[in-house]
Amino acid sequence: MKASVTKGLGQGFVVEEVDLAEPIGHEVRVQVQASGLCHSDLSVATFIGDEFPVVLGHEVAGVVTEIGPQVTQVKVGDHVVGSLIQYCGACVNCLSGRTHICLRPEATLRESGQPARITWNGKPVAQGMGLGGFAQETLVHENQLAVVPDEMPWAPAALIGCGVLTGAGAVLNSAEVRQGDTVVVIGAGGVGMNAVSGARIAGAEKIIVTDIEDAKLERAKAFGATHVLNSRTTDPVEAVRDITGHGADHVFDFVGARPVTTQGFQMLGKGGGLYLIGVSANDAGIDVNSIATLSASQKVQGVYMGSSNLKRDIPFYASLYLQGRMNLDALVSKKIALSEIDAGYEALKDGATARVVITDFS
Ligand SMILES: NC(=O)c1ccc[n+]([C@@H]2O[C@H](COP(=O)([O-])OP(=O)(O)OC[C@H]3O[C@@H](n4cnc5c(N)ncnc54)[C@H](O)[C@@H]3O)[C@@H](O)[C@H]2O)c1
Ligand SMILES: [Zn+2]
Ligand SMILES: [Zn+2]
Repeated sequence: MKASVTKGLGQGFVVEEVDLAEPIGHEVRVQVQASGLCHSDLSVATFIGDEFPVVLGHEVAGVVTEIGPQVTQVKVGDHVVGSLIQYCGACVNCLSGRTHICLRPEATLRESGQPARITWNGKPVAQGMGLGGFAQETLVHENQLAVVPDEMPWAPAALIGCGVLTGAGAVLNSAEVRQGDTVVVIGAGGVGMNAVSGARIAGAEKIIVTDIEDAKLERAKAFGATHVLNSRTTDPVEAVRDITGHGADHVFDFVGARPVTTQGFQMLGKGGGLYLIGVSANDAGIDVNSIATLSASQKVQGVYMGSSNLKRDIPFYASLYLQGRMNLDALVSKKIALSEIDAGYEALKDGATARVVITDFS
């Protein structure tokens, strides 16, 4: 089968003929129908990655074509969406419903000593995040897959696996935003837009979005932002205090640069929470003054994958989409072929492009 292989840092994405093993244990063979381009894969391919060659791609949707002998949760013909959340289902965190912080995520992968899932000229190839969606087919542990209705279109389905779980989940699961709350979304990118959708679904009264590009702020309005702020031309802290009267209940940071995160903290009202999601520099973070923070009863929380339970949340967002209550179509800015991933990432630099999705695997 064809897969787009990244052979080393900065070496881009090149289509090669590779071999996929037969499913064993809980593995599921999926014929990929759509695969989204997420920034995290570009980071792995350009500066974070340490395992090469690798097949990346972790926003995947496709059809189940074969199942391993121990698979019970999906069947051949099911339409599935993958997620990079890997969980064992048996540790104390999984058993208390917090699969996103599983203590044994490696239980979803083959053990060392077993043959690799993907090989190229007989040599093992790593599989990004247990998914390896930049390929015609993939082999995935059943715990990383959720079944969606057959009528769910492929491109928006693929986006649910990472950007939607992260953005909407941060609002609905991590912060548990309630009706009447005030919400600030810093960074109106593909993930931030799903936080806006989540805030709208939760019934937030004010949804304030900040960015440095006007085109993205315009798009944010279409997703449900009640106020937009260009932080290049407006002091966002002062503006949020003006709009809310006493500071925001929830601030979601999708940028992750120290000065931006600090501003996010300054936007909080009494009892407010700052949620750290984006990272754009190695020193991303914030200094918190204990006295000021405790007297205002504020909190700062790191958020991994929107604290999502993928088996519950992926079908939930698909259902909201099919009911017309979750805008995913406007996130699919461009559809490309498997051989066009480098150009697809280039296109993402343009502010008008929210997400690029591979839909042609020929
Ligand atoms: N925590 C997790 O589990 C998790 C999961 C997925 C993605 N992420 C991260 O979420 C972040 C957002 O992802 P994305 O795909 O939406 O990225 P993106 O690049 O599309 O969006 C970032 C947005 O921030 C804006 N921005 C840049 N500097 C700004 C500033 N100073 N003030 C306000 N806005 C500013 C950009 O214009 C852009 O619109 C990324 O860092 C990504 O790695 C985290
Ligand atoms: Zn991602
Ligand atoms: Zn576990």
